[in-house]
Amino acid sequence: MTFDQRNDDDQDPALQNHLHVAIIMDGNGRWAKNRGWPRLVGHRKGAERVRELVDSCPEIGVRYLTLYAFSTENWKRSTEEVLGLMSLFGRYIKREAGRMNREGVRMRIIGDRKRLDPKLQALFDWIEQDTAKNDRVHLTVAINYGGRDEIARAVRAAARDVAAGKLDPATISDTHFASYLDTSDLPDPDLVVRTSGETRVSNYLLWQAAYSEYVFTPVLWPDFTPQTMADILHEYGLRERRFGGVK
Ligand code: FPP
Repeated sequence: MTFDQRNDDDQDPALQNHLHVAIIMDGNGRWAKNRGWPRLVGHRKGAERVRELVDSCPEIGVRYLTLYAFSTENWKRSTEEVLGLMSLFGRYIKREAGRMNREGVRMRIIGDRKRLDPKLQALFDWIEQDTAKNDRVHLTVAINYGGRDEIARAVRAAARDVAAGKLDPATISDTHFASYLDTSDLPDPDLVVRTSGETRVSNYLLWQAAYSEYVFTPVLWPDFTPQTMADILHEYGLRERRFGGVK
């Protein structure tokens, strides 16, 4: 193929790779505690790691990055930590909006927003619209997200459509049901990574990760660099994915 025969996607290495990596960012609290610092310092350092990783996505071949930032269970934490995290999410969006647009990053938020501060909800709506045309990197952040909660909300939405006569229950296949999930316009993750040595799924992308590979790394999230990600992707590249079939 000559240079002129290449389409636009061929000209940007980032667009050739459609890899979807989902991450459970764990270990911020322990990272801070190890240094005798408040937990929120760990979360702040974690937010810096998010920015670095998003920046590096085109170079390391990740097109979709989906991050677990606040689970439906995280409300059990102290009010100080919950409010600190919420304000960190807002600050990240305001601070990074210009950069995301320059770098072609589309940002989405998944999870149930209704319980969040209306100002934060408005900021989420705004950033999603402001970056909607970008297609180089798809950053999705899960906030007040739980896989079971997402499935229950999807079931309620489908049931409402059935009651309204808009949906025939006989036509609900797994692919059709997926269109009711928060991730309806995203591919399923190829790889789910959890940091900090914990080996649990913690209610993350329960439906979407049915065939994903999992990597558990001892690295605490505030120590997670683009090089850590590149090493994990190397390990992932050595695996054989069969999707339930045989070789
Ligand atoms: C889990 O570590 C981490 C969280 C609940 C928060 C994740 C949030 C960030 C990394 C902040 C920035 C995110 C964005 C998208 C701007 P933990 O606190 O449970 O750690 P521990 O298990 O060591 O206590």
